[in-house]
Amino acid sequence: MHIFTTIDELQLWLREQRQDNRTIGFAPTMGALHEGHLSLVRRAEAAGDVSLVSIFVNPTQFNDIEDLRRYPRTPEEDRALLQEADCKGLFMPEVNEIYPPGKDLRVPVQLGHLAEVMEGKFRPGHFDGVMMVVKRLLDIVQPDRLYMGQKDFQQLAVVREMIRQLSLPVEVIACPVVREADGLALSSRNRRLSPAERAAAPAIFQALLEARLAFEAGEPPEGIRQRALHHLQQAGLQPEYFEIVNGHTLLPLAEDERSGYVVACAAAWAGEVRLIDNMVLQEEHPC
Ligand code: PAJ
Repeated sequence: MHIFTTIDELQLWLREQRQDNRTIGFAPTMGALHEGHLSLVRRAEAAGDVSLVSIFVNPTQFNDIEDLRRYPRTPEEDRALLQEADCKGLFMPEVNEIYPPGKDLRVPVQLGHLAEVMEGKFRPGHFDGVMMVVKRLLDIVQPDRLYMGQKDFQQLAVVREMIRQLSLPVEVIACPVVREADGLALSSRNRRLSPAERAAAPAIFQALLEARLAFEAGEPPEGIRQRALHHLQQAGLQPEYFEIVNGHTLLPLAEDERSGYVVACAAAWAGEVRLIDNMVLQEEHPC
């Protein structure tokens, strides 16, 4: 695996790959890697792309300075895991490389309600920071395919919308949520959970599963939502939201809306750790 810290070194290697007619599959991350991240690398390799991962804890997407300070950083383990997963390139830039002082890197995209609901509501400015770094990384890497996890469902929708509005020449590959055996979605933040919080955390997955069963049984969304919030509280978590939304618009489902793509999205605190998860309740075209 080749490791780069500067854009120049990285781009030299990328040029060589393209000269050899290889396609680039890029997975941006913030490190503290786990099997969810590695699944993106494996998917890229399986598709025949040369896999490139970036590790950059992006300061502009943290609306809470404490969260940024506490974000886990495990560079040595990350390198070993990527090597094992047969990742071909790793880009680990410093902040000044991504954000050279004086350069205006704001992204001229109007996200509208996509940035106002759920994560947008509870983490103001978060998606501006995500767009800024993803756009910057796409400009640097110019990958053929961008691999992202459905774990961050709204982030995926935001990045797709940015790519659409700016007509960026990259294909987005959405990869399924990787979970622990008890259903907890893998997350870099999980390693900050105390044993008691770790024991409570799978309630998010259980609440999502219950919501799916209830939705399939024809229950109206508001009742399902309230029950899920109650379930999370009973488990000792502090829910921020539990929404049942149209998977394209991310707007809450109307009481009588039953067709189309339906997703439940949740955010809850386990102590001082904020966890998010989601589950598709109904595919676009149910069989
Ligand atoms: P990070 O949380 O490190 O996640 C990097 C990528 O891994 C994202 O596409 C995320 O959806 C995916 N991922 C994380 N956990 C996953 C899981 N359990 N299953 C499947 N995929 C998972 O998301 C970010 O970083 C940042 O916001 C970033 C896009 C890198 C911009 O800074």
